[in-house]
Amino acid sequence: MKHTSSDIRKKFLEFWETKQHSIIPSSSLVPENDPSVLFNTAGMQPLVPYLLGETHPSGTRLSNAQKCIRTTDLDEVGDDTHLTFFEMLGNWSLGDYFKEESIKWSWEFLTDPKWLGLDPNMIAVTVFEGDESAPRDEQAAAIWKLVGMPEDRISYLGADDNWWAAGDTGPCGPDTEIFYWVGQGKPIPGSNVGNDEHNWMEIWNNVFMEYKRNKDGSLEALPAQNVDTGMGLERITATLNGVKSAYDTDIFQGMLSKITDITGVKYPENIFINELNFHSEDELIQRAKSMRIVADHVRTSVLLISDGVLPSNMDQGYILRRILRRAIREMHKLGFTDTCLTDIAQVSITHFENIYPLVGEKSQHILEEIFKEEEKFQKTITSGLREFDKLLSGFEKAFEHTGRKTTEISGKQSFKLYDTYGFPIEMTVELAAEHGLSVDTDAFEKAFAEHQEKSRSASEGKFKGGLADDGEETTNLHTATHLLLAGLREVLGDHVHQAGSNITPERLRFDFNHGDKLTDEQKQAVEAYVNEAIQSGAPQLLEEMDKNEAKESGVEGSFWEKYPDTVKVYSFTDSTGKCWTKELCGGPHAEKLSDLGIFKIKKEQSSSSGIRRIKAVLEK
Ligand code: SER
Repeated sequence: MKHTSSDIRKKFLEFWETKQHSIIPSSSLVPENDPSVLFNTAGMQPLVPYLLGETHPSGTRLSNAQKCIRTTDLDEVGDDTHLTFFEMLGNWSLGDYFKEESIKWSWEFLTDPKWLGLDPNMIAVTVFEGDESAPRDEQAAAIWKLVGMPEDRISYLGADDNWWAAGDTGPCGPDTEIFYWVGQGKPIPGSNVGNDEHNWMEIWNNVFMEYKRNKDGSLEALPAQNVDTGMGLERITATLNGVKSAYDTDIFQGMLSKITDITGVKYPENIFINELNFHSEDELIQRAKSMRIVADHVRTSVLLISDGVLPSNMDQGYILRRILRRAIREMHKLGFTDTCLTDIAQVSITHFENIYPLVGEKSQHILEEIFKEEEKFQKTITSGLREFDKLLSGFEKAFEHTGRKTTEISGKQSFKLYDTYGFPIEMTVELAAEHGLSVDTDAFEKAFAEHQEKSRSASEGKFKGGLADDGEETTNLHTATHLLLAGLREVLGDHVHQAGSNITPERLRFDFNHGDKLTDEQKQAVEAYVNEAIQSGAPQLLEEMDKNEAKESGVEGSFWEKYPDTVKVYSFTDSTGKCWTKELCGGPHAEKLSDLGIFKIKKEQSSSSGIRRIKAVLEK
């Protein structure tokens, strides 16, 4: 392998260090301040506030490798190009350098023998051709010519290709994209991205973020001219090694050979999978796809769990559960039905532990969580698949009797597969498609919603943003609940959020997401946090805030979507300035913490998968 992924990542970060960039750590895969998206999908996403003008503590030149996940094309994973987790290498200028340095340095990194040393003849670029929003980017083109890019290798393309935005609103701007020749031999003279796009692969995108898109669609200038670049590590590794897919690079080879060790099934050599043959019944293609899906999904699970996600039926946890269960099913397709995912996960942990420290620190936790989920699903998958086969034979019998063909699995049937056997609906859809059937997913959604409604009303006294009983004991216990959550987050980590709460005048009961039983030390540390807070005697502060502002400023809260645009935020800060808790809530709360008494945890137990429950009291 000419260029390994770790070599490219290392060189990239070293290069930007020589250009006085601070190398910042990757943010979590789960956006910290933006519950509107499940995952970071681009390197710049955690930097949006700074691109909009806030001051970044590490300065105006930044670079990193950012963990990202894209799940929009989950069904296409297994072909040559789609992955769920990927690493985005990036460098940023926050109102520091602009087009000239950005382009010159990109060129230096790619072509200087000290760095990647690529043949300049193998590179082509595109720039923005201009439209009513912004002018044709002659400036970028001129800089490209200056560094030696032949004029006929520069293509001017429209906003579909050369305008980048993170979403419908927010920072955006024209970009210049850098492509590498992936055709036969050397590039044909005159070939460029505009006239020969299939022979060029995009490897790097430099966005000149000087605009902000408003809600009404209008553009305004940002306070500063920024640069945001992104280079997908998996893609560039494959491209520079002359292979079509990241699965054929060092990134996946260890995991794929582990799957071979486990199953005895060999990974097919020189296999190409694209839109055209993706659904082919060819045995080799099916085998490669299954092996690739297992490798991709286990790798993504490792990174997700390291960032605090646990398998569940909601949001990020649901995606994690879904991909782990899909990996298990693909292993079944490969003929292996025992638990094995942790062995594959270990390969990924070894690959990442020195790059993303949380992977190393939490390796045991990651393996345990994967094992738990695998064990759970292994118990039901076989009977679930049998249930599915029963459905199929039922359809056939009905056909023999009535002559009417059933082509759709009903909502009730798919809900049973979900509820009794743990089949994510997407898995049922996939299974159905393999047998030429569809699934009434609308009816599934309905059955699902009805079931949720039932379990909601069954769970007594659920928080609705406020307390039904505002007696003194209940109010004090409610305030203790906030301190308990803050203590849990302090002791166990920021992945902990409220999952449910029930308060009577005698005790509080609090559910939160966390995979493991608390140790005695952890329980004591949490108790100590709450009691120290109580002793500090901090007074209550109630603020009315704009919901988004509250979210962005890091106020703790769950069920944000249930609250109006203006929210109440309760905090308790003592005379030394220590803020013990700051949480979104409907109230009411104690006037000062010294009113509370002594906090004692009475019981800590599992509530449901990935959710722990604490019962606690306040003693006088
Ligand atoms: N934000 C741009 C991208 O994702 C450049 O980093 O392509």
